[in-house]
Amino acid sequence: MSPVPTRLGTVQETLLIPLYGRAVENDKPAAALRDSRATEIVAELDYDFSRFAELPSLTGTVLRTVLFDAWTRSFLDEHPAGTVVELGVGLNTRYERLDNGQAQWFDLDLPDVIELRRAFFADTPRRHMIAASVTDDRWPDAVGGLADGPCLVNAEAVLPFLTEAEVRGVVDMIARRFPGALLALDTAGPAIVGAQEDHDALSKVAARMRWGCPDVAVLTEWCPGARVLGSHLLTSLPPAIHDALPEPHRQMLAGLAEQHLPQVEEYGLHLIRLP
Ligand SMILES: C[S@@+](CC[C@H](N)C(=O)[O-])C[C@H]1O[C@@H](n2cnc3c(N)ncnc32)[C@H](O)[C@@H]1O
Repeated sequence: MSPVPTRLGTVQETLLIPLYGRAVENDKPAAALRDSRATEIVAELDYDFSRFAELPSLTGTVLRTVLFDAWTRSFLDEHPAGTVVELGVGLNTRYERLDNGQAQWFDLDLPDVIELRRAFFADTPRRHMIAASVTDDRWPDAVGGLADGPCLVNAEAVLPFLTEAEVRGVVDMIARRFPGALLALDTAGPAIVGAQEDHDALSKVAARMRWGCPDVAVLTEWCPGARVLGSHLLTSLPPAIHDALPEPHRQMLAGLAEQHLPQVEEYGLHLIRLP
């Protein structure tokens, strides 16, 4: 079988970092997450992943996904027929890990990413790909035309690549179109955004983050009535998640916590209830 070409735009290329992170994790004897599909996709893509080999932040991307998975699992436990929207889905495989046979899933990304995604995934009556920018105000129609009721919007490692004005517009649009929805997102503080040239993974690609967010509480100012339900650093994961990690991961996190690095202490993972 010939390799699948990866002709991706600048910000789109970043999807290969968490994909590779999950593939590497999957091959560990003691893994925080299993993702055999990621391993298969990495093997099939025509891309030199060696530039990301051994990067410390790969494990960070995996731990972020473990937390977003846990939030999605508990949303689906409460709302088995609920709607999950993945913004900036990349080659994310959350559906493969968590689908419960009832939920509606929407996987949104820019057109070249969705074209690549179609080499590996197909739409079904409950799983729909949307080729659009997250800033495009028509995507909520595509979701709302097929699903209603409780909604979880996952924006994993996508909003920091937008400008603050764009993020504000997206959050406002989700709040208006999906009242009461849950929004899971990550934020990178100004020190991280200012030092991207030195970031172990981002320095290997051309894309750069633009939204430096010192405090996720700003969302509650943008959207009065929004509530922060959970806010974590990689070094302050919910105890149930942290304690279930393999020993090497817990040791790594304990070491990181002692160092008080800005790239760790300014990188937040949040679950917001929109008004
Ligand atoms: C670091 S990757 C994360 C991918 C995926 N969420 C994951 O965790 O595996 C960032 C993703 O955001 C997407 N993205 C960036 N800007 C976007 C936009 N304006 N609209 C839609 N997707 C966007 C990129 O194409 C890419 O797939």
